[in-house]
Amino acid sequence: MLTLLSGTNRPGNTTRKVVAHVEAIYRSLGVTPVIVDLLELPLEAFTPGSYANKPASLQPFLDRILAATGLVVVTPEYNGGFPGALKYFIDLLPFPQSLQARPVCFIGVAAGEWGAIRPIEQLQGLFLYRNAWLYPEKVYIRQCMKVIDSDGNLLDEEISKRLRSQAEGFLRFLAQHGCKA
Ligand SMILES: Cc1cc2nc3c(=O)[nH]c(=O)nc-3n(C[C@H](O)[C@H](O)[C@H](O)COP(=O)(O)O)c2cc1C
Repeated sequence: MLTLLSGTNRPGNTTRKVVAHVEAIYRSLGVTPVIVDLLELPLEAFTPGSYANKPASLQPFLDRILAATGLVVVTPEYNGGFPGALKYFIDLLPFPQSLQARPVCFIGVAAGEWGAIRPIEQLQGLFLYRNAWLYPEKVYIRQCMKVIDSDGNLLDEEISKRLRSQAEGFLRFLAQHGCKA
């Protein structure tokens, strides 16, 4: 099972539009991904007691990470980093099985010039620390307001090509590691 993680809970976020585009690419390659959208996290997941006692409403989100034979993390750039909501969600994941030996690849989305290089570098450090298997080809979407319109259409052919190339490569990477998408 391939899981796409939409890494922010900001209403109306552009990251989710990119996730929809990536989902369509994988479907065209014969794989039907499932999505974990942090905007859909139940409010009770944010109560301090959730670290120790996970609310039942959170479990479907955790399950879609635990069952992922491949994980695509799509993160925006917030203050030169990845969103606090994404870190919080990662901190709620069962340890160590959630990320250990989990194949993962990254896509960054930013309004600015740097296309979320910094958040992806930070995430790589975190996922390496947790012994995930990192697929090396990243996609950085800079100046996302110019590249993605309000309906979520991707206007830049080059970004489209990079996303498709990453998806094809990630599926090969999964096959090489004996993981069925
Ligand atoms: C709290 C916050 C901080 C942000 N910080 C940055 C930043 O450091 N660099 C940048 O390029 N864009 C920054 N942005 C703009 C986002 O990159 C922009 O909103 C983009 O659409 C991706 O985020 P989204 O998925 O929430 O839409 C920030 C946005 C928010 C909401």
